[in-house]
Amino acid sequence: MAATTTTVEHTPRPERTAASYRLLMCRPQYFDVTYRINPWMNPDKPTDAGAALLQWEQLRRLYLSLGHRVEVIEPLRGLPDMVFAANGATVVDGKVLGARFRHRERTAEGPAYLDWFAEHGFADVLWPEHINEGEGDYLRVGRRLLAGTGFRTDARSHAEAQEFFGLPVTGLTLVDPNFYHLDTALAVLSPDEVMYYPAAFSPGSQAVLREMFPDAILASPQDAAVFGLNAFCDGLNVLLPQAATALAEQLRQRGFNPIGVSLGELLKAGGSVKCCTLALS
Ligand code: ARG
Repeated sequence: MAATTTTVEHTPRPERTAASYRLLMCRPQYFDVTYRINPWMNPDKPTDAGAALLQWEQLRRLYLSLGHRVEVIEPLRGLPDMVFAANGATVVDGKVLGARFRHRERTAEGPAYLDWFAEHGFADVLWPEHINEGEGDYLRVGRRLLAGTGFRTDARSHAEAQEFFGLPVTGLTLVDPNFYHLDTALAVLSPDEVMYYPAAFSPGSQAVLREMFPDAILASPQDAAVFGLNAFCDGLNVLLPQAATALAEQLRQRGFNPIGVSLGELLKAGGSVKCCTLALS
């Protein structure tokens, strides 16, 4: 009888360690959906500002319990999307590229966030020439930036960011209106690892992502649809919407510690974990 040997393939499991981040968040005190600038927003659907506050507070506490430092910017009445701090600016090496919003409804958030930076000792601040929606569309991977365009950030902003930060910027084109910011379709996991939803990108950008990250975690349409990619990773812990269960399992297999967060109220405005989080370091 011929003996059969089964070879079990062991993918090396990198040792993951958490880094401590300095984060900026904005309490959803005036949260509401009063206009529609992405397909998730329906002004006719009721929102619950109290529930939004509780869910947001849970996220803030979770960051603190994981050893991160969370600063808060005062919310302004009449700016219901200000809770999405990721859009407020892009910060790299202490340099701040201000945000310039695509839609009139959010325009005033740009200067509001820049004031916060001026008051908190950030000296190298640039008021941008081109439309860009901060860390919603700019994500740092190691010593380079991935930059979204297609719905919000103007592709001309990519050159402006590259010149200002002195880091290579790779532009990626988003094509599905449900994933209108880069941070809704892709999350950074380490200096050379990302997870993303391929169908959110143009064919050319999908090819670029395969070239740069051949081993990336690919999200299913289901996990992408519950905003599973709108996640924050500190090197070990990955905070992501709790409904993204398959994605959490994929992360676990790669040695990460996924932590499901429930932010259902904020999802009514088309935002979740990462949207609420502006990384200052
Ligand atoms: N309602 C907001 C908008 O459409 C949601 C922003 C979400 N933020 C993010 N970083 N993806 O602009």
